[in-house]
Amino acid sequence: MSSPGLRWTRLSAHLQQALDGADGPLCTYVYDLESLRRHARAIVGSLPSGFELFYAIKANSDLPILQTLAPLVHGFEISSGGELAWVRGHFADIPLIFSGPGKTDTELARALEGGVEALHVESRHELERLAWLARARNCTVPVLLRVNPAIDGLQPTTLMMGGRPTPFGIAGDQLPACLDWLRAHPEIRLRGFHFHLMSHQLDAAAHLRLLDAYLEQTRRWRAQYGLDTLDHINVGGGIGVNYREPEAQFDWPAFAGGLAALSARRDGLTVRFECGRYVTAFCGYYATEVIDVKHAFDRWFVVASGGTHHFRTPHAQGHSHPFRVLPADAWRYPFARPQVSDARVNVVGQLCTPKDVLAQDAPIERVRAGDLLVFPYAGAYAWHISHHDFLRHPHPQHRYLPTEDAHAAVE
Ligand SMILES: Cc1ncc(COP(=O)(O)O)c(C=O)c1O
Repeated sequence: MSSPGLRWTRLSAHLQQALDGADGPLCTYVYDLESLRRHARAIVGSLPSGFELFYAIKANSDLPILQTLAPLVHGFEISSGGELAWVRGHFADIPLIFSGPGKTDTELARALEGGVEALHVESRHELERLAWLARARNCTVPVLLRVNPAIDGLQPTTLMMGGRPTPFGIAGDQLPACLDWLRAHPEIRLRGFHFHLMSHQLDAAAHLRLLDAYLEQTRRWRAQYGLDTLDHINVGGGIGVNYREPEAQFDWPAFAGGLAALSARRDGLTVRFECGRYVTAFCGYYATEVIDVKHAFDRWFVVASGGTHHFRTPHAQGHSHPFRVLPADAWRYPFARPQVSDARVNVVGQLCTPKDVLAQDAPIERVRAGDLLVFPYAGAYAWHISHHDFLRHPHPQHRYLPTEDAHAAVE
């Protein structure tokens, strides 16, 4: 399968056209839907039988993204009533699983009514509320218990959701009490366990070891507690994108090969992934026109028309985001262009805070006011995690390069 490549030629041609038509500084997200389709098809196609991929829509829930993915993935993972309403408003039948902390009674009730195929329960209290709602509706609820077990030799990443004290899931020592409680509550049907211990996993071998530990843990619990209704485990998402060293991405082909070997240890259970970042990050770009180039003390600053209120990813993850300069020869003014060559620059945005930084100490050959900076890997946890209305600057455009069988770009 192909690695998640970036299609710069198609993108640059689109952006040059957009620049020519712009009547002010250009600032836009561009999503390459054909690249998304190829990448998702390759990932899903590489899974051995018994493994499934759900897409965690929190990473990017734009409709064209979901429409591209819906025919390819096994379903969507949602984490709020808002996501449930959004998906069900557009996709009546797609399989849905519902995770996330702090679900309200209204969200749980809507999930029961909205045909969610498994609810991932985060605590004993959530179980009790769910059972109470189920009794009132005279229905049985399929659930997975989200667990936060201690795992020997767990190799941490930069963002851990479990394997240590976190607000997520049911700590391993509280599981026996929950399982006892379930025995007395047939309105809840236990389908399996849900593990999501980390994000930003870049090491395929470490992730395979982790999945093996989940399967081993599940085998022990099944034997110890006589659990005979389980049909799957959910191993979460968490496959990372290497923003710091883009050439060294997660080795998906090696991972898929390892899954085939792991398959013998599934004990008949389906293994389900719910990945977000790794599915959509590669198809998205944030492109922003340079407004100014300045020097202060010993530092060059490139001021972009946008910032972290549009593209919070580098600030959220604490990295300097890679970017390319797309030269734009047209120049609007009758005076000289601020510019810098062969230098290291900080790329900042329009917010009145020194924290509005997209890239730091980045080497460039040349950058001029009016050029376009293009940040790749901006298709996941980018626009959707940003604080859009801080300072009430205009929102960026959102452009979608169509899949190759579509007729026109949706803009
Ligand atoms: C429960 C759960 N599942 C899946 C995901 C998706 O993770 P990722 O985008 O890292 O694959 C998240 C993200 O936070 C999550 O909290």
